[in-house]
Amino acid sequence: MVFSIIPMLVEFSLVAAVLLTQYEIIFTLVTFGTVAVYVGFTLAITEWRMEYRHTMNRLDSQANSQAFDSLINYETVKYFGNESLELERFDETLSRWEDNAVKSQTSMSLLNFGQGGIIAIGVTLVMIFAANGVVTGSMSLGDLVFMLQLFIPLNFLGMVYRQIKYSLADMDLIFKLLEKQPEITDAADATSLQLGGGEVRFEQVDFSYQVERQILSQVDFVIRAGEKVAVVGHSGAGKSTLSRLLFRFYDVTGGCITVDDQDIRQLTRQSLRSAIGIVPQDTVLFNDTILYNLAYGRPDANRDEIEEAAHIAHIADFIDQLPDGFQTVVGERGLKLSGGEKQRVAIARAMLKRPRILIFDEATSSLDSKTEQAIQETLREVAKHHTTLVIAHRLSRVVDADRILVMERGRIVEQGTHQQLLMQNGLYHQMWQLQQKEKQVLEAIPSTDLKS
Ligand SMILES: Nc1ncnc2c1ncn2[C@@H]1O[C@H](COP(=O)(O)OP(=O)(O)O)[C@@H](O)[C@H]1O
Ligand SMILES: [Mg+2]
Repeated sequence: MVFSIIPMLVEFSLVAAVLLTQYEIIFTLVTFGTVAVYVGFTLAITEWRMEYRHTMNRLDSQANSQAFDSLINYETVKYFGNESLELERFDETLSRWEDNAVKSQTSMSLLNFGQGGIIAIGVTLVMIFAANGVVTGSMSLGDLVFMLQLFIPLNFLGMVYRQIKYSLADMDLIFKLLEKQPEITDAADATSLQLGGGEVRFEQVDFSYQVERQILSQVDFVIRAGEKVAVVGHSGAGKSTLSRLLFRFYDVTGGCITVDDQDIRQLTRQSLRSAIGIVPQDTVLFNDTILYNLAYGRPDANRDEIEEAAHIAHIADFIDQLPDGFQTVVGERGLKLSGGEKQRVAIARAMLKRPRILIFDEATSSLDSKTEQAIQETLREVAKHHTTLVIAHRLSRVVDADRILVMERGRIVEQGTHQQLLMQNGLYHQMWQLQQKEKQVLEAIPSTDLKS
């Protein structure tokens, strides 16, 4: 702007002054008429063309994410033999992009052509009048050259304008992204968590991801420092949502959550999250070495600590077997490891983080019964020193919890110890009966290593 447009405007006004004072009025009329037509034409055509540019950018992102998606999910694509479907989908986006790219290019040619034409007409008119002037002797040859110079900056102006419009269009998505406000931010007066024993309290918590659909209603419970509380319930009951709320990925819509009597909305997210460790329901790993993924729990941990954590999670022997050991690269999202191996990596890194509060979200669901039993022992040991929330599908994993909450459709419908709940003869009792039956059936099948 400073180096091209402003000098040009200065030049233009000087020329206008000279034109108005030194020459006949017809030159001013022709010159400014041409400029007006030129500017009008450029604005109109550019505005119309921007549509294509925007569409092109949108389709470009779309094609990228489609390609990425189908490559990451290559197994699913192959399971269903949908290679051609993916190809078509990608191809369709690309050909729409191509279509727009061609329109964008041809419309630019039209723009250039039009701009050139307008200038040519203007120049020709000025030439005719000026040549006449030279012939009649009222103008000199120098005046004629001056007239021709007039139109050079005009073309330049058109180009600068186009470039600015283009750049703005390309940055449009970034501007929109920058304008987005994160839903969850630290409060202006947020304080660091003053960590005591790690008591967690949910007080009359209501929550919904979307307003139309309530997920949690009046959830009220406490896990005192060092206690182990289990949450059981059917899939979709809202169990994993509890851990997302505790991490403050979302804010509650009613009630509040406190850690050591501090409302988590008043805490910095960093201090809150560093106090909680989780083994999530679905573990995804970074496409890097096992070592990197383990150390993710606490990046400054030393090698001994990492190996110890691997040992606790019963993954050390597996790693030793690998040709590249700790340096084995796990593939996108950890696809080169089995579900159970990924889960054990997740357990190890949660251990490494050494948080006060631990959450296990169906943390052993992908393990075979032998490994699960072995880990369960260690986890029980670890849990003694932490405030622990265990989300489990298998009730047999939680019989030793200090309290068991039974959730159904976002409400706590029963709570108590295993014995108390069995006596209540409610949902827990039903689920227990059902799982005992399954277990008997499984045990009746001889020498098969099925998950229990
Ligand atoms: N990000 C989300 N947006 C909208 N709904 C969600 C989201 N995550 C989970 N849900 C819904 O919330 C309900 C509870 O989910 P979740 O807590 O994961 O259940 P579970 O008890 O099986 O762990 C489910 O019905 C699920 O469809
Ligand atoms: Mg869940």
